[in-house]
Amino acid sequence: MPGSAADRLARLADGYLITQLLHVAVALGVPAALAAGPRSAADLAQELGAVPGLLHRVLRGLAAEEVLDELPDGRFGLSPVGELLRPGVPDSLQGTVAARGGLYYRPAAGLLAAVRDGGTPFELAEGQPFFDALAAEPTRLAAFRASMADRSAREAGAVVAAYDVSGFASVVDVGGGPGLLLRAVRERAPSADVLLFDRPEVVAGSDLPAVGGDFFEQVPAGSDAYLLSRVLHDWDDDAARRVLTVCRTAMRPDSVLLVVEAVLPERAADDPAAVRMDLHVLVLLPGRERTAAEYAALCEAAGLRLTRDVPTDAGVHVLEVRPA
Ligand SMILES: C[S@@+](CC[C@H](N)C(=O)[O-])C[C@H]1O[C@@H](n2cnc3c(N)ncnc32)[C@H](O)[C@@H]1O
Repeated sequence: MPGSAADRLARLADGYLITQLLHVAVALGVPAALAAGPRSAADLAQELGAVPGLLHRVLRGLAAEEVLDELPDGRFGLSPVGELLRPGVPDSLQGTVAARGGLYYRPAAGLLAAVRDGGTPFELAEGQPFFDALAAEPTRLAAFRASMADRSAREAGAVVAAYDVSGFASVVDVGGGPGLLLRAVRERAPSADVLLFDRPEVVAGSDLPAVGGDFFEQVPAGSDAYLLSRVLHDWDDDAARRVLTVCRTAMRPDSVLLVVEAVLPERAADDPAAVRMDLHVLVLLPGRERTAAEYAALCEAAGLRLTRDVPTDAGVHVLEVRPA
């Protein structure tokens, strides 16, 4: 019966299919191929290199989920949801889909073993830590970067709208990834010296001023402001405290550190997106999302103090942190 508890549960159990249907469409390039208008499965299969009958069934699955429109003549077009799978369109989720289907999917199957016996599903499945695995394989690094860029594109504007960065003369984005937040800061503080800091393979080829290194060892010293966006959630408390301590060592007494993170709600239903992000982290890394009180305690243990908690329109908070 549609709408019944059984129907809802059956759809939840079929979630594995939906992740893979989206992944197949993106990996084959279906959304870009439909950008100019509806096409038949046979036509798409010939251009994209797929088996027509099987591609047709996948496209029907996506039509059933209203990602594609199925026209009376049998051709498929992009629905408003499907439009967001196109690369480069505003609010595109192409990278998000590629990372979930191609990078997170297999490790997620190790969740049961990890919950029973401990450990990180990604490491159990792949035999090495997440960021080392990315460094070893450029296609996976590219998938993760694209997913970070999708998310950061949504968050960066909201962060600089919520927190005034215009007075900064120098800014280091620690673990800045694709550097979208740093670019958003530079738009608000055009004369600021900006510096992207991340692992060497991540900053290689960046068009921003960039330095490669290890934030567990050292970060560039003496800047007005440090950004730490979606970094602490990757790490357990000991490692997160080490990153904060390294930042504290680099900061001047009047420097400010902006920690950008989701803040866990009291009840899961109050912020499901933050809870889902906590689960992505659970699958991939030893870290977790935290409450504001937990961030305050981490800061205190690193010789820092949390001075403001500024919510943004994108779900993340800007936690303003200063030397204690
Ligand atoms: C979840 S991403 C966040 C990226 C970006 N700040 C954002 O908000 O989208 C975490 C970043 O930490 C970087 N990272 C991981 N380990 C690192 C290390 N030891 N030293 C420097 N950067 C590191 C990763 O390469 C990645 O870019």
